[in-house]
Amino acid sequence: MTRNEARAPGTGAAPAAGRGAGDAEPPVSQAVVAPLTAAAMFLVATIEPNSRARAAVRALCGELGGLQRAVGFRDADAGLSCIAGFGSDAWDALFGAPRPKELHPFREVRGRHHAVSTPGDILFHLRATRMDLCFELATEIMSRLGGSVRTADEVHGFRYFDARDLLGFVDGTENPVERAAIDATLIGDEDPEFEGGSYVIVQKYLHDMAAWNALPVEQQERIIGRTKLGNVELADDVRPTSAHSALTTLVENGEELEILRDNMPFGEVGKGEFGTYFIGYARSPQRIERMLENMFVGRPAGNYDRLLDFSRAVTGTLFFVPTATFLEEEAAGRGSPPGA
Ligand code: HEM
Repeated sequence: MTRNEARAPGTGAAPAAGRGAGDAEPPVSQAVVAPLTAAAMFLVATIEPNSRARAAVRALCGELGGLQRAVGFRDADAGLSCIAGFGSDAWDALFGAPRPKELHPFREVRGRHHAVSTPGDILFHLRATRMDLCFELATEIMSRLGGSVRTADEVHGFRYFDARDLLGFVDGTENPVERAAIDATLIGDEDPEFEGGSYVIVQKYLHDMAAWNALPVEQQERIIGRTKLGNVELADDVRPTSAHSALTTLVENGEELEILRDNMPFGEVGKGEFGTYFIGYARSPQRIERMLENMFVGRPAGNYDRLLDFSRAVTGTLFFVPTATFLEEEAAGRGSPPGA
């Protein structure tokens, strides 16, 4: 049975890879490889520094699956899913050892532009075809956490026409799908204790729409690397090496190192706020970090992503996404490690 075939219905969750027949039940991943949806919520919170708060978060870990089923079953076709991720310091305080090999605080990048690093102990990424389901589940989650956490950032994302960002380009086309998406995002043999887990980086970008809209469409297309209306990739002799889609393509030993993105537009018209919430999942954070380096510093240095002249990153945080099995069976039962 492949991980793909075994995905649990309605959640997108998949058993982890790399185990042979006869092994113990593989851990079930959280719904990292869920389809793009019309609505999403991104909640980033910090945990209050006391043992009661940490106990409340661990208790919630054990309840998340049940809560998701309770809210999601009310419209099973809406595909409600919720992913919980944990920051590096929070992991130590909540769960202690062992820790995921590549988990560390988000590393800011300073180049032509600045990818800032901002606080965040927990991420909840909620997705569904309807915002009301995301909202309901987020409400249940936060009511359980009560005063144990402080919300650092909350963004409600919506689908904009044919999956476009607010800059007007279709966003998500080159995402890996099915088996390739699983291979891109879920940890395998490289960290056996955390097989089936994933890493996720989020960044909130605000766009200068007036400056962007003042550019001729042909120039916008050379910045993104695709045509605006038809969403077709520019030919190699036309697409600059600084195009966004060029700088975010990584090839190593003839193989493309992919990530899975589920960016969402958001905004507040009255405030003049127009943004893209970037969220990228990968089996190693290095892939996303290299893309950020290419975008913010340039490949080679100086040949940076002109999208950043019009889009400012105002947050940046890295989280580890343990398996659903870990959340249900282990997280709730683990105590605070001594001295945490
Ligand atoms: C303002 C924020 C961003 C916007 C509006 C944006 C938009 C886009 C658009 C329109 C495309 C082309 C269509 C597609 O394949 O999805 C694209 C491609 C891509 N973006 Fe972004 N993006 C943003 C930030 C990022 C960041 C921060 C990363 C990674 C660190 C990233 C990684 C990628 C990748 C890997 C591709 C596919 C490249 C390819 O294989 O052609 N993007 N993005």
